[in-house]
Amino acid sequence: MGPPLKASESKPVPEINQASQAISASPPPLKHVAIIMDGNRRWADQHRLPRLSGHKEGVKALKKIVSHAGAIGLEYLTVYAFSSENWQRSREEVRYLFELFANVLRDEFDELAENRVRLRFIGDMSTIPARLKKSFDRSMEDSKDNTGLNLQVAINYGSRLEITLAAKRIAAEAAAGKLSPADVTEDLLNTYLFTGEIPDPEMMIRTGGEMRLSNYLLWQAAYSELYITPTLWPDFTPENFDEALEEYAQRNRRYGGD
Ligand code: FPP
Repeated sequence: MGPPLKASESKPVPEINQASQAISASPPPLKHVAIIMDGNRRWADQHRLPRLSGHKEGVKALKKIVSHAGAIGLEYLTVYAFSSENWQRSREEVRYLFELFANVLRDEFDELAENRVRLRFIGDMSTIPARLKKSFDRSMEDSKDNTGLNLQVAINYGSRLEITLAAKRIAAEAAAGKLSPADVTEDLLNTYLFTGEIPDPEMMIRTGGEMRLSNYLLWQAAYSELYITPTLWPDFTPENFDEALEEYAQRNRRYGGD
């Protein structure tokens, strides 16, 4: 992977705080961006490369976006790295992706820590290989006091699974007499989701041009602004990210009101 982009070296970008001041009358300040990083294999096809190598190129794009998001002061970034449906891909691809996650974590953790990134892996970890899960757990523990960007990586994540697991746990607590139906509010349900106390994303970016949410943050993105670009994920740059932020600043959110 290329050299790290230090916050101090990154070129001037629309300051998050400036952008949010400029837009304070319409959309709320942008604290949390969620991304569906789609189009890695198509990118490899376009470049006549082995399809799976597109994922490696995707890591390079992610690295630049994480660095940039931290540099402009974004608080939360949540990326979809492996969905609960991705198990349907070939065994070769699943193995390739898991190895890639392990290698990236091993090679990049120190730099993420230097940049004060707090890492969280969200999703159903019960079927993740034990060694990989262990390195996820260790990196979360080791970065938990970092005060920079909160980076959530969704692995074996699916919203329906997430909501079903939340409902199961709530039902179990109700059956044990610890909760009553009146206790079950949106706020309570929120706390049972993988995302826990993380605020909802104000914007969801999808690269690769597909017009769907693919079971990603369906509850959390109830009011998110959607930004869908045909750009394939490995081609998505910090400048493209800024374009999305600028577009967000133009949008007018009404939450179902007038
Ligand atoms: C979707 O592209 C992408 C994925 C299923 C994997 C995303 C993973 C990365 C970008 C690597 C991230 C690494 C870490 C460490 C989090 P696709 O394969 O569906 O592309 P296609 O639509 O062209 O087939």
